[in-house]
Amino acid sequence: MPEFTPTEVQNLKSVYEKADQGHVFTYFDSLSQPDQKALFGQLQKIDPVRVHKLRDLALNPPTEEAQTVLEPLPESATASIYDSKPEDIQRWYDLGLELIGKGEVAVVLLAGGQGTRLGSKAPKGAFNIKLPSHKSLFQIQAERILKIQKLAAARASDPTKAVIPWFIMTSGPTRGPTEKFFKKEKLDELSAEENANRAKGEPYFGLDPKNVTIFEQGVLPCITNDGKFMLASKAKLAVAPDGNGGLYKALQDEGVLEKMRPTIKHVHAYCVDNCLARVADPIFIGFAAEKKVKIATKVVRKRDAKESVGLILQKNGKPDVVEYSEVDDATCQAVDPKQPSILKFRAANIVNHYYSFEYLDSMGDAVNSLPPHVARKKIPFFDTEKGEAVDPKTPNGIKLEQFVFDNFKWLNLNEFACFEVKREEEFSPLKNADPAQKADGSFEKEPEDSPTTSRRHIKEQGRRWVEAVGATVKNGDADGGLEVSPLTSYGGEGLEGFKGQTIEKATI
Ligand code: UD1
Repeated sequence: MPEFTPTEVQNLKSVYEKADQGHVFTYFDSLSQPDQKALFGQLQKIDPVRVHKLRDLALNPPTEEAQTVLEPLPESATASIYDSKPEDIQRWYDLGLELIGKGEVAVVLLAGGQGTRLGSKAPKGAFNIKLPSHKSLFQIQAERILKIQKLAAARASDPTKAVIPWFIMTSGPTRGPTEKFFKKEKLDELSAEENANRAKGEPYFGLDPKNVTIFEQGVLPCITNDGKFMLASKAKLAVAPDGNGGLYKALQDEGVLEKMRPTIKHVHAYCVDNCLARVADPIFIGFAAEKKVKIATKVVRKRDAKESVGLILQKNGKPDVVEYSEVDDATCQAVDPKQPSILKFRAANIVNHYYSFEYLDSMGDAVNSLPPHVARKKIPFFDTEKGEAVDPKTPNGIKLEQFVFDNFKWLNLNEFACFEVKREEEFSPLKNADPAQKADGSFEKEPEDSPTTSRRHIKEQGRRWVEAVGATVKNGDADGGLEVSPLTSYGGEGLEGFKGQTIEKATI
């Protein structure tokens, strides 16, 4: 039995026809019942009027002020771990832990992206960066949550409240495998060795499954250069995930705000591919909560003018981010007039954001106005005019992607704060596969933002932490480092017991 009546089909068809997208029904009557059901279900979830609004915002953006003025953020909106007073940092840490201890902090993980540049079909969080422990990025992040909950519970008046709910945003392609990985089911996308590693661990990495919510971001239709929705086949609209800015709509549509509303006041969102991400960082949460801002963001100093990172700055007096794919050379290369040895625009976006729950909850219909960015791509499609499938050799269509930072510009500078942290402690993204290796095992060129750099940075950090308390590492590790489990230390604390010791293990 079809799950729709002919009248319902007719009604939906007229919605699309009115929007001048009636061609998506071209083959409907000739499809099998299951295909009709699938197409009806897919089309029903999309509001062509909303998509048109977004399409028009992307293709004909509102004209900018005659002169766009880009400037670094003013000092009043920024702080840096390099020159903050130790007592300020301690106060933020204490406040952050107190808020976690009261159960007011939630974490949102952006994990809807696919590891295309990494050459992996598995969700990036399942990636094994070949640490001695074989932990995946998801496991490292889960263990940071476990540890910080424990540190907060130790100080809380009611330790049972020290729980950080973890909300994981996935997309169509990443949802299924992410759910399986958490439940420790076998993934076809992983090697036998990687599946065996996962099978040895705990379901949900030891977190209580009721505190982990995996939800899904939305999709937007792929469009032709003249704005028509594309069909992937006779029975399917061509769609793509709506970008990490789809977060705000998904928080509403997937019931996440509902779930947060009773207890959550502060939300920390971060990007899955950063192995050094301090999940639910108390210092950052305390900093933002004390400043009572709506949004705060962490940055590191840009490595060099060419690094592929967004720049956090002010544009015409509002906080903003200029994405690396959209920034001009002059802005990238500009040097700081006061310190010519460093870049003027050096605040690199590491996709590590604080939101007050109140702000997220107040967004309402604004989630439908986040202007998408245009990515011109080769999109295989079914040509309804010629009646044939086309596999294009050159870009033939547009994917619309919202960016998670595009609402920053809706705030005033005093509602926004930026916190500079140390790159070596907090940022090492996994973007690329390792370069090819020579016969002797060395790389053809220096690896950059790859599994090797992620692994090295974790182990270098571990070594720094134990050396800071007076321990020595002699474990024969190829990278000369030490893996410190997040369950042992979240951010270098609690290692005093190793003072004077020579550590021979690969991981502690
Ligand atoms: C992103 C930032 C860039 C920043 C860089 C740092 C955006 C738009 N750009 O660039 O400013 O300097 O990281 O590493 O944020 N994701 C989804 N759904 C999607 C697409 C992406 O959840 O549809 C998630 C990814 O899983 C990832 C994060 O968003 O966790 C960033 O996406 P990615 O595609 O890796 O962004 P970059 O181009 O590296």
